[in-house]
Amino acid sequence: MSVPVTPVELGYEPADPAFIADPYPVFARLRADHPVIHDPATDQWLVSRFADVGALLRDRRLGRSYVHVATHEDFGRTPPPAWQAPFHDSLRVQLIDMEPPDHTRLRRLVSTAFTPRTVEGLRPRVTEIVDGLVGAARERGEFDLLADVIERLPVAVIAELLGIPAADRPLLRPWSADMTLMFELARSEDDERRAVRATVEFSDYLRGVVRERRRSPGDDLLSQLVQVGEAGDRLSEDELIATAILLLNAGHEASVNGAANAWWTLFRHPDALAALRSDPGLVPTAVEELLRYDTPAPMFERWVLEEIELHGVTIPRGHEVALLFASANRDAARFADPDGLVLDRSPNPHLSFGAGIHYCLGAPLARLELAILFRAILERMPTLEVVAEPAWKPRFILRGLQALPVRLA
Ligand code: HEM
Repeated sequence: MSVPVTPVELGYEPADPAFIADPYPVFARLRADHPVIHDPATDQWLVSRFADVGALLRDRRLGRSYVHVATHEDFGRTPPPAWQAPFHDSLRVQLIDMEPPDHTRLRRLVSTAFTPRTVEGLRPRVTEIVDGLVGAARERGEFDLLADVIERLPVAVIAELLGIPAADRPLLRPWSADMTLMFELARSEDDERRAVRATVEFSDYLRGVVRERRRSPGDDLLSQLVQVGEAGDRLSEDELIATAILLLNAGHEASVNGAANAWWTLFRHPDALAALRSDPGLVPTAVEELLRYDTPAPMFERWVLEEIELHGVTIPRGHEVALLFASANRDAARFADPDGLVLDRSPNPHLSFGAGIHYCLGAPLARLELAILFRAILERMPTLEVVAEPAWKPRFILRGLQALPVRLA
């Protein structure tokens, strides 16, 4: 009879800097011997294999939320304290936390204003922003690739898309960084208070912008969302504000971390970097492979709305599963040479943009931004090298570097 082990004994410690820096050996152990295992520390069931993660993302017996079908008490959960209401009220009307039929309705409305044509139309502007950022950094010679180049692009793009005045844009990233603290597994009460404060400030700010757009619409996405209608359907003001918050947050957090993680991967794989420099035609498949190799969003959670069984283990209603996307992306059962960086990997069915009804709405925009940015860095900074090994932020859910110091040799 095998001796029961806990994830922590296998090295699964989401608050441990060493785990955050390289969680992949732990994921390999989970996949091999414990494809589904309960973690008493987080009270979550960890699911690590590609086939299981993909199947559960599409399984309607699970949901991003349960508040549409049950109370906190039904699910054996303690309701969040009253002072957190601003955060949870906002989350409840964010697309990413909704379930059908509300999700279906809101996703259709938001997609109307967020079409592939809108995204393709951004190409010249994205190129212009990238050229400016890369040009300015090149002149400095030594800089932080993350703060000075990578981070500025998605923030500028999503803010322009929504029509946030340029002078207000520096507010966005701190609000987003604070709000998303609430999603971390190892968070303090201080983190939670910062998340709530940021939600209140962000919502108040956007309420002003939305009212302004109602009075005098522009050609930005927020104005379109104000007007969007479908058989008389409209977004309520709270939904509108929550949607803007989601787009602003989701629209840059993962892209920033994804791009910085990708460049750190490339610096650690000089042969791959050299190959990419000599053939920038590889950029589209390389972007996919880099997102697979080290995804910026390693784990997403789901609530079990109806009991499920996985590998002979029954997971009852009311429990939570942690779907380890980063582990699924390294599963040898789905990817040949899963720990290798294969820049022309095709097909590349990685799960970094999710799957099922919550599949990333911004994937075409993220792909466009990363491809234009990577090409410009490769072509206009051919001697770029890393100055020092970067440190990771103490975060697992939104896993990314603190800085990426580089110089032109
Ligand atoms: C490399 C960059 C990105 C990555 C890795 C990423 C990843 C993801 C993932 C994994 C999900 C699904 C979460 C789940 O199933 O629980 C998601 C959802 C979402 N993403 Fe992204 N994302 C990126 C960029 C963007 C951008 C640029 C935008 C917006 C402009 C965006 C907007 C959204 C939205 C609105 C959702 C919710 C969709 C829904 O619930 O129906 N994302 N993203």
